[in-house]
Amino acid sequence: MRPVEISGKRLGLREVTPADVDALHAVYGDPATTEHLPFDPRTREEVEEIVAEAIESAGVQPRRLYVLAVTDLDGGEVIGVARLHIEADHPHSAEIGLGLRPDHWGRGIGTDLIRLLLTFGFKHLRLHRIWGARSPANTAAQLAMLVAGMVEEGRIRHHVRVNGSWRDSIVHSALEDEWEGQRDT
Ligand SMILES: CC(C)(COP(=O)(O)OP(=O)(O)OC[C@H]1O[C@@H](n2cnc3c(N)ncnc32)[C@H](O)[C@@H]1OP(=O)(O)O)[C@@H](O)C(=O)NCCC(=O)NCCS
Repeated sequence: MRPVEISGKRLGLREVTPADVDALHAVYGDPATTEHLPFDPRTREEVEEIVAEAIESAGVQPRRLYVLAVTDLDGGEVIGVARLHIEADHPHSAEIGLGLRPDHWGRGIGTDLIRLLLTFGFKHLRLHRIWGARSPANTAAQLAMLVAGMVEEGRIRHHVRVNGSWRDSIVHSALEDEWEGQRDT
């Protein structure tokens, strides 16, 4: 396996390691982070399992799952996590997901991270389509995806079950040919 290590202007993306568990728990263990996500805040044990599965999936060929630590280039601290999952039946297409530690929100980092994920997916993995699904109420994710160039393409009705109720998702996507014309990372 060739480990992923790329950087943009402010952020880096690299493979997760067991040493990242506390930093990733600070992201996904926080109820503010999971407010619009279809799961409850993760326990430390759950984060440990996620990291172990991520490390295992990194060795699978062909590789389909990338779970990457998001680092602040100014100091190297892990401030978030990003996920890119290549579809088994449509290997030109991948779904992305991301989460940042709440004390880093609102400074354009989420937008930068999405741009970096698009660069990784289109330039390094040669994907054609990259998409993400968000809760209709997730305004920060909506704006970050739109500003990064991900077009809003539709609504999946009753996509996920959250706290005993059905919830729709809004899908955004970017296509390689559109991205080629506007990338700046
Ligand atoms: C979604 C997330 C990554 C966005 O990160 P971020 O660094 O705060 O995003 P940005 O600073 O790039 O903000 C993007 C836009 O949303 C706006 N915004 C940020 N937080 C907002 C909020 N809570 N409500 C409304 N708008 C918000 C910003 O002002 C910015 O708009 P602008 O470009 O016009 O200034 C972050 O909020 C997060 O980790 N959320 C929890 C996990 C999550 O929801 N992941 C996405 C699943 S699809």
